[in-house]
Amino acid sequence: MHLVPAEGPLPYRTFYSYIADRGFPVTQFIRHGSHPEFTPEPDMIHDCLGHVPSLMNQDYAELLTLIGKAVVSTPNPQQVHALKRFSWFSIEFGLIQEDNETKIFGAGILSSTGEIPFSLSKDVKHRPFVTSEVIETDYDPSRMQDLLFIIPSFAFLRREIEQLVKRFGIPIN
Ligand SMILES: [Fe+2]
Repeated sequence: MHLVPAEGPLPYRTFYSYIADRGFPVTQFIRHGSHPEFTPEPDMIHDCLGHVPSLMNQDYAELLTLIGKAVVSTPNPQQVHALKRFSWFSIEFGLIQEDNETKIFGAGILSSTGEIPFSLSKDVKHRPFVTSEVIETDYDPSRMQDLLFIIPSFAFLRREIEQLVKRFGIPIN
């Protein structure tokens, strides 16, 4: 994948149209020094520390590209909304199970020193990642997330997105 400079947060479809072409939009500004632990909007710390290292992993890049292709290939806004929630609760704010331990997966958590400990604390409701529930669940990007889904494995996540795209009847080439 390659990086694409972005001036700020992009509309979801625009963001994922770059990703469908294996380009990852990265912002070019950094959060204010008075609040280094959390930012509601993506900045260079979020993009370069949260997302970019994972893009070097082919499986992660393929998963992301698949979501991107699905978003740009469906004309149905409800399906786009479902895909948005799927990626929010996985790519951005997913927790994942590995070696019987719950670990941080999402870039939104990884790029926030406030959210890293918060995400694993008892103040957050943890639920198993069930796609039908995830795509019906709303979120508020302006604050730390108090509901997170735990993905059983990366292979599970890949299978789930493939099945969702199939169920939606979205043609992917
Ligand atoms: Fe992000």
